[in-house]
Amino acid sequence: MSENRLIQLFEQQFKSTPTHFFHAPGRVNLIGDHTDYNDGFVLPAAINFGTSIAATVRDDKQVRVYAHDCERQISQFSLDDIQFDADMMWSNYVRGTLKILLASYPQINGANLVVSGNVPQGAGLSSSASFEMAIVKAFAGLYQLDIDGVKAALVGQKAENTFVGCNCGIMDQLISAMGKEDHAMLLDCRDLSFEDAPLPSQMSLLIVNSNVKRGLVDSEYNLRRQQCEQVAEHFKQSALRDITFAQLQSARNELTEVQYRRARHVITENERTIGALHALKNSDIAALSELMKASHQSLRDDFEVTTKEMDGLVEIIEQVIGNQGGVRMTGGGFGGCVVALVASTMVSQVEQAISDNYYKRFGLQADIYICTAAQGAFR
Ligand code: GLA
Repeated sequence: MSENRLIQLFEQQFKSTPTHFFHAPGRVNLIGDHTDYNDGFVLPAAINFGTSIAATVRDDKQVRVYAHDCERQISQFSLDDIQFDADMMWSNYVRGTLKILLASYPQINGANLVVSGNVPQGAGLSSSASFEMAIVKAFAGLYQLDIDGVKAALVGQKAENTFVGCNCGIMDQLISAMGKEDHAMLLDCRDLSFEDAPLPSQMSLLIVNSNVKRGLVDSEYNLRRQQCEQVAEHFKQSALRDITFAQLQSARNELTEVQYRRARHVITENERTIGALHALKNSDIAALSELMKASHQSLRDDFEVTTKEMDGLVEIIEQVIGNQGGVRMTGGGFGGCVVALVASTMVSQVEQAISDNYYKRFGLQADIYICTAAQGAFR
């Protein structure tokens, strides 16, 4: 949304002019899914879709938020008494984030906020992490808080884990905070160190939304996490990161079949993610293509988080791009998007193949976004 439109909405809501503007991007993950909460590696990029905020400070402890894109648009609460609001889910991202932020920065006062975002919601592109990072950025800006991107990301993640109720890892918040324009980022989710990796200039970043509404996401997600933790415990390790493929193989009989497959996904996905960083750095698109393909198969067969529509989209795109690009599901799964890194010259062929085949096979229209890798909110 343009700044002018935000100003207009703010003036309508608050009868005054906003003094500050903030933005935080959503993200797409190129490879490395369900590895972050296992202390593993991920390779996401921030995208040119995000959450924007216009704001002013208040001299009391009230926070009043107008969320332009939500059905029920106004939420107001006091920083002195932040409660979960079961009737307005979106407001819990603001409430949770501020509750955690307040623990380190008790000096903050309230604010008037207008929020608008263009990250498709429930599509696995981290609209919620971008919302959280935009809120942290807003209060950091309004109250000159000394907070860096890593700390901001940890605030957002803790809000999700302890207030919203999703046991997510750190990937989404960290890339929204620290992404770099035209780059993906290899993030080590154990020590939170990261390395930027330039995206090849002749390739386009394509996100295709299967438009399968994501269902049972939180419960299935939390279950996957539990299964991974059980295997780590079996090996007396703090995370699957510390278990090698050979160790897993030799203990196969001690694990249930499901536990074994969940762990096999995580361990092999970590290797693929590091491999993908090297492939990107060497502009080895054929290698990247293989790794993304294997990642999708592993998420489909071992981790069981894809849907037939997502699998179908991957097949349709693979048939066009062959080894001249990569495609796989992205994010948590159970619906949502696939990501493709495609030679720019092939984009229109890919679009054509999707429009020829996806509706015919699944009775759904896909949305296609040609994205660029954007700068994070704290970069
Ligand atoms: C969701 C979570 C992330 C990550 C991905 C899967 O997006 O928020 O922390 O676990 O799923 O890779």
